Amino acid sequence: MRYVLPRLFRDPTAALVEFGERSQGQVVKLNFGSFRPYLVTNPVHVQQVLGDRSGNYVRSGEGLFWRPIRRLFGDGILGEGQIWSESRRILQPWFTARRVEALMDGMAMTIADAVAELDEPALAGRPVDIGAEQARIVCRAIMRALFADRITVAEALRIMEAQDAIATSVIPRVLLPFVPLSVPMPGDRAFRRAVRRIDEVLVPIIRAARSTAAHGDDIISTLWQARTDDGRQIDEQQVRNDTVAMVAVTTETTINVLTWLWPHLERSPEVASRLQEEIERVVGEGMVTAAHLPQLRYTRMVLDELIRLYPVAWLAPRQATAADVLGGVRIEAGATVLVSPLITQRMATYWERPEVFDPDRFTPERIRGRHRYAYFPFGGGPHQCLGMHLFYLEAQLIVANLVRRFRFRPRRPELPSVQLAAALRARERVELDLRPVSR
Ligand code: HEM
Repeated sequence: MRYVLPRLFRDPTAALVEFGERSQGQVVKLNFGSFRPYLVTNPVHVQQVLGDRSGNYVRSGEGLFWRPIRRLFGDGILGEGQIWSESRRILQPWFTARRVEALMDGMAMTIADAVAELDEPALAGRPVDIGAEQARIVCRAIMRALFADRITVAEALRIMEAQDAIATSVIPRVLLPFVPLSVPMPGDRAFRRAVRRIDEVLVPIIRAARSTAAHGDDIISTLWQARTDDGRQIDEQQVRNDTVAMVAVTTETTINVLTWLWPHLERSPEVASRLQEEIERVVGEGMVTAAHLPQLRYTRMVLDELIRLYPVAWLAPRQATAADVLGGVRIEAGATVLVSPLITQRMATYWERPEVFDPDRFTPERIRGRHRYAYFPFGGGPHQCLGMHLFYLEAQLIVANLVRRFRFRPRRPELPSVQLAAALRARERVELDLRPVSR
């Protein structure tokens, strides 16, 4: 314990992967004094927890790891039980393959316009903070496509700023989840202030949307139009919780993941040139459109590899409702069970040279040769990510637009280090020099 905690703060990814490697795929009980969760890394056992036996392993609102985050999102799509299942039923139609594909023509135009604004710093020779630029691009695309501009880009960016404050202020509670909420911890005050700032932006928008929701085609209108399983309109608190959750998951995830792409391309020139070659060949002289996306296969493999190394939802904590046996180990009722795509996807037990950035791991043949749960960046079972399809298509559009228009050079040669907050994110900013591609 004394040995583990400082390491967990200093280099949490290495410390966690080492836990995994030491367990060699066995279910192990970690020892944090009074808190002793089980760590599950073997794909066979991960499938049991998230999929086959998901009824017994719940994302309990009382579970220690969930508690800090619940103070932001409350009950709803990121919770469990009756309210979660209603929210999931209400929101799911937005994320079917057909619905998402229908959004892509509009998104392609919004993203092309937002990327074109980088011409100015590129021509002036000014470096850009690519995280901030991706935030601007993603917010513009998502607020239009999913929120029909009920939330402006400026408002979305204010929410993102508060989300940033939350992501860092929550770290002590995520890493020391057994400290009771009644014991003050560093970050608590900043956390509460940030939640208030999000509500100050979103609650008036949610209230104003109520009167026009009947005719609206956006996520907030969908929530107001919805009925609970027993026929009531869902209450303002649930509309608020689900709106806050949907704004967070549609922005932070894509923005954070893509930040790592550019430093990796700099270090892997062969990957960078295959990516450029594919995008130039498929897109040609015109604009990137929805029709190009199925042909951008290597781009998709690059994204697959990126979320192998950087699965933003890095930890899926579950609570056992009844006693069980997993991989020969007895799990008592009420125990916390941790599954983590970050750990399993970086373990040498399941991946050859896991530290190497290699998109060729995702050729169809190599995917077929792996256990389904050796790779689970989007989780699995009843809580499987709703946004998977949207993520791939949106990220392909952003990457294809950026790569067609510019060449990138990071100011610092190192990869940014990983910060494990509620979501996984880059600790340092990534500054890039952009050079327009001459045609
Ligand atoms: C467009 C972006 C995204 C949207 C709209 C989205 C949406 C969601 C939603 C609504 C859930 C909750 C599902 C439920 O509990 O029923 C969820 C869960 C999840 N998402 Fe996403 N997501 C997005 C991007 C991502 C990305 C990029 C990743 C990872 C690389 C990711 C990984 C996950 C995981 C692992 C879960 C499951 C958590 C658990 O089992 O407790 N999501 N997502």
